[in-house]
This record gives sequence, structure tokens and C-alpha cells, in this order.
Amino acid sequence: MAPVKITISLIKADIGSIGGHTRTCDGVTDIVRQTVAAGQKSGLIIDYKLWNAGDDTEILMTHTKGVDNEEIHRLAYNALKKGADSAHERGLYGAGQDLLKDAFSGNVRGMGPGAAEIEFEERPAEPFVAFAADKTAPGAFNYPIFRIFADPFNTAGLVIDQKLHDGFNFEVYDIKGNKKVLLQAPQEYYDLVALVGATEDYVIKRVFSKDEKLGPAAVISTEKLYAVAGKYVGKDDPVAIVRAQSGFPATGEVLEGFALGHLVTGWMRGSHNGPLMPVPLRYSQCTRFDGPPRITGLAFSMKNGRLTEPLDVFDDPAWDSTRERCMYVVDYLRRHGPFEPHRLPPASMEYTTLPVVLDRLKSRFKPIK
Ligand code: 13P
Ligand code: 13P
Ligand code: MG
Ligand code: MG
Repeated sequence: MAPVKITISLIKADIGSIGGHTRTCDGVTDIVRQTVAAGQKSGLIIDYKLWNAGDDTEILMTHTKGVDNEEIHRLAYNALKKGADSAHERGLYGAGQDLLKDAFSGNVRGMGPGAAEIEFEERPAEPFVAFAADKTAPGAFNYPIFRIFADPFNTAGLVIDQKLHDGFNFEVYDIKGNKKVLLQAPQEYYDLVALVGATEDYVIKRVFSKDEKLGPAAVISTEKLYAVAGKYVGKDDPVAIVRAQSGFPATGEVLEGFALGHLVTGWMRGSHNGPLMPVPLRYSQCTRFDGPPRITGLAFSMKNGRLTEPLDVFDDPAWDSTRERCMYVVDYLRRHGPFEPHRLPPASMEYTTLPVVLDRLKSRFKPIK
């Protein structure tokens, strides 16, 4: 009999937050948990974990139903919907923000929530890290994922571990063109950088081991909320699942990808660049100019889909210097106020008042002689 494949599904949405776009409300999370727990009791899912990245509710579930499964997506959507109803009752800010449709129609994609799902045959020990970010966009993962799986200056194993030495395959989405391409690292290293360095247009969706038995290494959510809603209704704060060790980068190499505090888009009104600050869950709340953009990470071990307790990976003084650098960059960028490159360029401001201002001034623009 073929070994059972386990799927990890990480589905998230902003369903409302306390006192602004800061962080989720524990009472609402408890409501979400009731529905997810019922899904475990009924045997639909094996295990689960809920947490928050700023104002986003994260639902991690393990099961054997594969990716894009209707029952799993319905469970997550119903849980988030009940949470959103409770958020409305409590007067939370942005209650139901990311739930764009009332009736579930088979898959959360296109309905507002973000999803990262990965299916594989468990190794004898199966460590992985689940990441969730707030006040940013899917392109925020390009830089760390590229460094983790393609850059030997980040991941020593690419050079010194026989199991990693062949490199990895990258599935890259052209999110505006709705197309995808598979690139090999290191063979197509420069082509890969040419694309994924353009974080607003190309996002890394999946990474695969070249050893077919190991299968997928990482997956990132790539929903574009504004493309779904047609106007700005909050951003698509992304999530990712990254497998570690024994054929994949070591957990320390995975986390090292976040050590710079690299610049990402999506801060304040989804319209500013800022550093991505790695934080423990107790600091997972966005209060400085609604930010700065933050990333949380929980590491797990797993057996037959059963999860250990999570390890809050950024809860370590080893990340203090990254956080301090981020706050130095925050002070520096904030002094630019509404000027680029702190503020995003016009193409990324499509759903703000900028087109309205331009329209109002249209008749006053004269040709330059
Ligand atoms: P493995 O145990 O996965 O071979 O990794 C060794 C390691 O973690 C060194 O940092
Ligand atoms: P969220 O997308 O996290 O709700 O943030 C909205 C925003 O940009 C607040 O400044
Ligand atoms: Mg919000
Ligand atoms: Mg958010």
C-alpha cells in the first residue's frame, strides 16, 4: 500500500481587529477555533493550530484530503465567517474585511482569504516552519525564499550537503499576466533573479526538491486581494510553509533568510515600503504607522499529521539586532513622509485617491513647450 500523503493547509483572512488594523481579538479567535475544532472532532482534519499575524487570523490544518479540497476550504471559510460575524457584533475594525463573498462556492481562492497548501509523503521526522506576515504582499517572500533555496551565502547546505547540492526548482507566477514558469537553480540562477527581483510582478509560488521522492519544499500564498475585489479593500498579507532539514535547508538556514529585515511593500494603507520585522507572537501587533510590516514564524514537528506544540521561532534575542535595524530603517523612511520610495509609485497606488486627484486636475495640465 502506498504511504499516506499528508497535506498542510494554511488559510488566513483579516476578519477584524482591535482599535484599528492592529491585531486580532482573542474572543473572535475562540469563535473561529470552535468550528476548526469541530472539524478535527469529526475526523475531517487531523490537527490544527490558530494564531495571528497582526490583524490576520491564521488557520493551519493537517489532513489527508490533498490541496484545493472543497471540504477543507469550506471548514476554513465557515470558521472565518463565524469569526467575522462575531467581529461585527463586537464592533471590531474592518470586521469581515477579507471575506468578499457571503456564500462559499467550492474554494477560498477568489473569495478573499489567502491560502498556502502543500502535500507530501512524511519523512521519518518532518520539521517545517509556517510563516505569516502582516502589512505586506506575496512578493515579500521572494527575497527570503530565493536566499533560502538558491543562495549559498545564506544556505551553507547548498554547497556542503550532498542532498542539497543539486539545487531546487522554482515555480514563479506572473501575477498580472496570470501565467507561470518553472525555473531551475542554480542552472537558471540569473533568469530566476531577473524575475523574482521584480516583487510586484513575479512571485515565487512553490519550490520543489529535484529529488522527486522528497517533493515540494515550500509554498507561498499568492492571492491578490485587489484583483479580486476590483478596488482596495486591504491587502493580501501572505503566508508560507517551508519544509526543513534532511534534504531541505536546515531550520536555521530557513530562518536566516529573514535576518536582513528586507524592504517590502504594503505598510500603512497598503501604500508604503518598509522593513519586514521578524517578531515573536507577543509582538505580533502593528502599532507604529500601522506597522512596520511584520513576520511571524512557528516551527513544528509532525508525525502522521499530528503536530507538536509550536516553536515561536523569532522569540529569541538572536533576532534583536534585526529588529533594531528595522526600527532604524523605519525612522529613516518615515522622514520621507508621502515621498517615494517610502510611498509606493503610482502603478501600485491604483486603488487610492491618486487617480481621483489626477482626474480633477486633468483640464489644468498644459503641454510643456
Ligand atoms: P540534518 O540533521 O538535517 O542533516 O542537518 C544538520 C544541521 O542541522 C546542521 O545545522
Ligand atoms: P491590513 O491589510 O493588514 O488590514 O492593513 C490595512 C492597512 O494598510 C492599514 O494601514
Ligand atoms: Mg486590517
Ligand atoms: Mg493584515
